[in-house]
Amino acid sequence: MSHPCCNNVTNPSPMLHDGELAQVVERGGTLPPRCYCDPVFFQWEVETLFRGGWHCVGRADRLANAGDYQALEITGVPLFLLRGDDGELRCLSNVCRHRAMPLLQGRGRCDLIRCPFHGWSYRPDGTLAGAPTMNRQTGFDKREFALAQVRLQTLDGFVFVNLDGQASPLSMTGFAGLHAPYALHDLRVTRRKRFAVACNWKLFLQVFMEYYHLEHVHAATFAQTAYQAPEPGDETFADSFVSVFGLHHGTGAVLQDPATRTFDPIPTLDDRLSRGTRYTHVFPGLAFAAARDCLWFFECYPVSPGESVFYLNSCFPAATLARCDFDKIVASYYARWDTALAEDIEMLERQQRGMASPLARPGRSSHLESAVTQFERWIAASALAPERQRGRTTPGV
Ligand code: FES
Ligand SMILES: [Fe+2]
Repeated sequence: MSHPCCNNVTNPSPMLHDGELAQVVERGGTLPPRCYCDPVFFQWEVETLFRGGWHCVGRADRLANAGDYQALEITGVPLFLLRGDDGELRCLSNVCRHRAMPLLQGRGRCDLIRCPFHGWSYRPDGTLAGAPTMNRQTGFDKREFALAQVRLQTLDGFVFVNLDGQASPLSMTGFAGLHAPYALHDLRVTRRKRFAVACNWKLFLQVFMEYYHLEHVHAATFAQTAYQAPEPGDETFADSFVSVFGLHHGTGAVLQDPATRTFDPIPTLDDRLSRGTRYTHVFPGLAFAAARDCLWFFECYPVSPGESVFYLNSCFPAATLARCDFDKIVASYYARWDTALAEDIEMLERQQRGMASPLARPGRSSHLESAVTQFERWIAASALAPERQRGRTTPGV
């Protein structure tokens, strides 16, 4: 019997069959609705895409000093990031080696991690430093009880982790050259805001990357910005990411109002780049917009087929942060991001209910959704052959 959310009664398999793959890859069809609400498909995504691939967990500059930490949870796995005394940023299991108590919460700074349950303590590199009274236990060796460490790589300041330890080293051909003008390494996160959204993680990322909904969902907010659809030459389809650049008036990071003060463009951008915004989606879960004066991006944490947590991060160049009027001007940027996101979330939560209808069927994408189509192709090809998904390649696309 198929799950109540699974609309395709002729195909009880949660994975895609050849015909569905062809529909998505060759004919611009959308993914079957069950890909957004079936718990078995979701579990496959968790194992293959999120634990088996490289998952972005934010920016390294938020943890700049020795002892800085951030707790996080990826698909139910408690972890924390911590900058060691040696300057190295590590991702460690946030589960005590004694009886599995989570160790750290939120964000802060520490030089020793102490378990709140029975007091075992760990050094910043995860090795066990102390275990009260355990010296009375025959054969107890502290060296055998270090916290598990997760693979971590950074790319232009973005931090990626691979939970299952099996992914190929992170490499994204073409990414560095495309984004070099934005000097990503120089950006600093000024605000990280959590959003719990009642929709599938893919829907959230898709609406961020497409131009089709702008004049309908954001008619009141973006009307004067006049986003133009990307030219064909402004679309980059790579194995593990997609990027589109579109022109518009002013910066895309504030609601257009002649009285709104904005920051200076990033000096390394040429004239054309300073007149638009680049939207990039690194599969599966990092999506960012690089504007002429800032960058905003989302960390993605799927919770269930119909529930997701996202963190909206706002980033500015170091020189912009140094301005004495930064706090005053940046309020307009935060207002723009919060306003646009609220408009999107209202739509997404309604869309999720539509996806769960037994009468929902695959649709067709428009030319204004090229980045979404590319993402769906990546999912579809991966779902057909999950073993080929390892290492963030794009099998068969
Ligand atoms: S669970 Fe951590 S010390 Fe007991
Ligand atoms: Fe939107």
